[in-house]
Amino acid sequence: MSPTVWFLTGNTGKLAEANNHLTKLGYNVRQLIVENDQLYEPQAATLEIVAESKINQAIEHLPNEFVDGDMILVEDAGLFVSALDGFPGVYSSYVYSTIGNLGIIRLLSHLETEDPVSSANLRAAQFRAVAVMWRDGEIIVGEGICPGHIATEPMEGNGFGFDPIFIPYDLDAEFQPLEAGTYGEHSTHGKTFGAVDVEVKGKFSHRSRALKNLFSQLPSA
Ligand code: IMP
Repeated sequence: MSPTVWFLTGNTGKLAEANNHLTKLGYNVRQLIVENDQLYEPQAATLEIVAESKINQAIEHLPNEFVDGDMILVEDAGLFVSALDGFPGVYSSYVYSTIGNLGIIRLLSHLETEDPVSSANLRAAQFRAVAVMWRDGEIIVGEGICPGHIATEPMEGNGFGFDPIFIPYDLDAEFQPLEAGTYGEHSTHGKTFGAVDVEVKGKFSHRSRALKNLFSQLPSA
């Protein structure tokens, strides 16, 4: 029987992405639900510290169906905008729930996508994710980055959070991200994560990369 990965998240978008990635590796993914008043999200200086706090809390709330060999997964992510010196970064949740996607677009409204002199992408940003797993008392950490840029207007449809305003850079044939403005084998063709489906986002995303990095440290299921 496939081992179960209990993912502590209230975000169904994150759950769908983890499910999409991990079922291909032979794992069952189930949502670990803990009442909000039993959990807290620290405002910390790094994604790692937040994720470590979450895993320590998750271990305190093992589900009744948890059996030997099962694993607990938590993840913390954020959007880091270069022109804003990495803001909102670890403040992503707060910024999303206050100024939201339109607020980020307004903060960058004075910036063209491409610098006419240097060709640098002035709206460059990256998503970062840190995934932490607890397995048989051992903690394993995976990290993932997805480089891209902020769109000039939101493109919605799928996804969650900042997905409607983030356009990932193209990937080469080995799924490695390319430089800004370079055409690659894999592309969203200028679409944001909000305008593509979960399978496509999974090729590019910081979350898939963090999970890949984490699970590459385990024997396959
Ligand atoms: P969290 O603390 O990891 O849940 O995420 C911090 C903020 O970033 C939340 O507002 C999320 O909606 C947003 N966020 C995290 N991951 C993604 C993503 O993959 N796409 C878009 N927004 C995201």
